[in-house]
Amino acid sequence: MRMRMRMRMRMSERNFRPARVLAAVLTLLLLAACGGGSPAPTPAPAPEPVPAPEPEPEPLPVTPPFAVQANPILSAEEAGIAENWDSIAALVNKNSHLPADYIPTDLEYVDIPFPFTEKVEKRMLRREAAEALENLVAAAADEGCSIYGVSGYRSYNTQVSIFNYNVGRFGSEEEANRISARPGESEHQTGLVMDVSTAAIGYALEQSFAETPEYAFIRDNAHRFGFVVRYPSGGENITGYMYEPWHLRYFGPELAAALYEAGLTYEEYLGIRD
Ligand code: DAL
Ligand code: ZN
Repeated sequence: MRMRMRMRMRMSERNFRPARVLAAVLTLLLLAACGGGSPAPTPAPAPEPVPAPEPEPEPLPVTPPFAVQANPILSAEEAGIAENWDSIAALVNKNSHLPADYIPTDLEYVDIPFPFTEKVEKRMLRREAAEALENLVAAAADEGCSIYGVSGYRSYNTQVSIFNYNVGRFGSEEEANRISARPGESEHQTGLVMDVSTAAIGYALEQSFAETPEYAFIRDNAHRFGFVVRYPSGGENITGYMYEPWHLRYFGPELAAALYEAGLTYEEYLGIRD
């Protein structure tokens, strides 16, 4: 409802332009397709391929705090997070590996919908991230968006299995590693990541998730709950991974808002470029 009110206000502030009105109508149709309490959402018919203008950037509801906003470039050492695996700001990537025996001590089951019933490790996150994700999913539900958890905490040994599976699937370690982390290099082992999806795409982890109203909610609001979309479109040469609109990394509201406001990946924010 708040999103619709903002949209009405923005439209009244501008000159009447047919293309803008059409874009607004399409957006409202998309939002209306965001579950709306329907128990079994089905994919909406594809809209007519009408060229729409680039969406306007959403204004931030609050000014992000965080002193480093003025000068966000810090090294991992300066930021105090080098090999600080228990920090919610921990840097885990192809050059910063978790020890094989690292297991977070405060994992708990996340109380959100999952498309499976087994009580397994992938339902878990660290306590702070679990609570934040529960709040995010509840806020999305208030907007009619049904976000499901698909894969959260993964142990080192689980990542061994997943990476080996993906090597078989993609034909080489190099190709698999564009979308699947090697053991020790996956943020999932921190307990601070949940892959999410929705019913309309069969709960798949695929780039079409970016076309759903659920993703639109995440894009515009995840930072308020402390999450960022960690592997953005066009960022493979920086993050090492292809676009993953489903991979939500918890950094806490302050750091997530700073990253969102700066429009930077975590590597760029820390001044790390290979
Ligand atoms: N898909 C991400 C990169 C992972 O495997 O952690
Ligand atoms: Zn992931």
